[in-house]
Amino acid sequence: MTKTLLVTSALPYANGDIHLGHLVEHVQTDIFVRFQKHLGHACYYMCADDAHGTAIMLSAEKDGVTPDAYIDAVKAQHISDFKQFNIDYDHYYSTHSEENRVLSESIYNAANDDGGIIKKDIQQYFDEDKGLFLADRYIKGTCPKCGATDQYGDACEVCYATYSATELVDPVSALSGKPPVLKESTHYFFDLEKYREHITQWLATDPVSDPVKNKLNEWLTGDLKPWDISRDAPYFGFKIPGTDDKYFYVWLDAPIGYIATTESWATANGKTCHAFWKNDAVEIHHFIGKDIMYFHTLFWPAMLAVSGFNQPKKVHIHGFLTVNGEKMSKSRGTFILARDYAKLLNPDILRYYYAAKLSSSMDDIDFNLEDFVQRINSDVLGKFINIGSRIGAIVTKKLDGQLSTIDAEGLALLDDILAMSDAISDAYQSLDTHKGMRMIMQCAELANKYIDDKAPWALVKDNADAARVVCTVALNALRILCIYLAPVMPGVTQQLFSFLGVSSQHWAQLPQHITNATLAPYEHVLKRLTLDDVAPLVNTTQ
Ligand code: MSP
Ligand code: ZN
Repeated sequence: MTKTLLVTSALPYANGDIHLGHLVEHVQTDIFVRFQKHLGHACYYMCADDAHGTAIMLSAEKDGVTPDAYIDAVKAQHISDFKQFNIDYDHYYSTHSEENRVLSESIYNAANDDGGIIKKDIQQYFDEDKGLFLADRYIKGTCPKCGATDQYGDACEVCYATYSATELVDPVSALSGKPPVLKESTHYFFDLEKYREHITQWLATDPVSDPVKNKLNEWLTGDLKPWDISRDAPYFGFKIPGTDDKYFYVWLDAPIGYIATTESWATANGKTCHAFWKNDAVEIHHFIGKDIMYFHTLFWPAMLAVSGFNQPKKVHIHGFLTVNGEKMSKSRGTFILARDYAKLLNPDILRYYYAAKLSSSMDDIDFNLEDFVQRINSDVLGKFINIGSRIGAIVTKKLDGQLSTIDAEGLALLDDILAMSDAISDAYQSLDTHKGMRMIMQCAELANKYIDDKAPWALVKDNADAARVVCTVALNALRILCIYLAPVMPGVTQQLFSFLGVSSQHWAQLPQHITNATLAPYEHVLKRLTLDDVAPLVNTTQ
């Protein structure tokens, strides 16, 4: 039965470049989306830049441009970065849009009408030098929950607790370096406690993995504190209806951007966003990192419930990328930008490396340069591309590009490789791509063993017909492997499909062997990596 899915990656801030960490998420999401499309499902991939907040306002000010001009330029760069990595969104939009303003106001109004918005006067940190109430990210101090030092004013990167900046121990303003002063103003709060029942009901539908569920249950045993959703002017964002100088906190309108992006896409395609967000037949899947779990598993399901939109079927939460075992760091030169990687190396091999490491768990994954070289050479080159380059050369140079038929022994090999398809499909479906890649490489090993046993390079010298059968079998094995790997390496597999004379192939075409075809000359696809090729990724001179 075909399904309809709406899939999102977290919306990157329109402030700063796309790096290899963001790519973990977008690659994982894109593999999932491509796989769904591969199976024949209707799957729509929505993403956008998260364009509001103080950080963006201050960056624009520093560059001497308007916030609008600033976010437009960043968005163009983000789109180009992701494109280089074959991330194939159905729509990439911005939270600074008319659709998002209208939706944010209506969701806020729904909560307000429901009695879910509380107004309170609060003391808030103010930087007297800058004349600005300090956004949480501009205050640093010690986490009130776990005692970790150097944490931001909204959430702890060590224990993932969220809190208000006034709870931080020993705060300083990151703008002036001075301790901030407290100043009073009226704030608007979302009464999370009021929606406890909605959240627990949603949790009972199994939208998250067990470890995430445990974390949520831990949060749910305590008080669900009201969430501060307003910020004082000056602020780059949407004004709260009925106020002159209060704005929605960026995290209020950011997830609504998922719906607004759908709306923008739907309008251009003769549909409506309600057909996706108010339709029980549509599965909504969010992909996010573990740092933003609180926002997506407590506030977001509550906001959706109060405004009559559907809640996500799944929130898939991944871990963080480290480089050579440590947190990415500008000073260590390990803060690797997407576009810098793309200047040096083929993006598909990074996609493969991530797929081979990723699972459905929240464990961090490491980008280790030596391991990367070794893994790509042994799997992608040594097991997969190797089939094409060895057999392709023989077929092109010695057999006039002409294939023949598959014999009984060859059919048995292809059947063995096809027998893995359900297990591989399950691995894609459950995001355990590390298992999927291992199984695909086992299939490739079977094909390589067959080729080694038959030695077609020797056979072709005195029995071209027999060699042709061996090559036909081997290239059909390659075709199946390409279908298995297409969601992970769309560029590389497309090149091989062209060589094999087939247009891009889907899961349903797995058993359709090609025989008696005439092939285009084999062209080089990828080269082996050396440590020298990848070393410039890490800039040790910074
Ligand atoms: N703008 C918010 C998300 C709003 S969603 C409605 C945000 N932006 S972000 O640019 O900081 O991060 C975007 C995504 O990238 C998040 O899911 C985050 O977890 C992920 N990553 C950022 N750095 C990462 C790594 N080093 N490793 C893996 N993922 C990381 O949060
Ligand atoms: Zn903490």
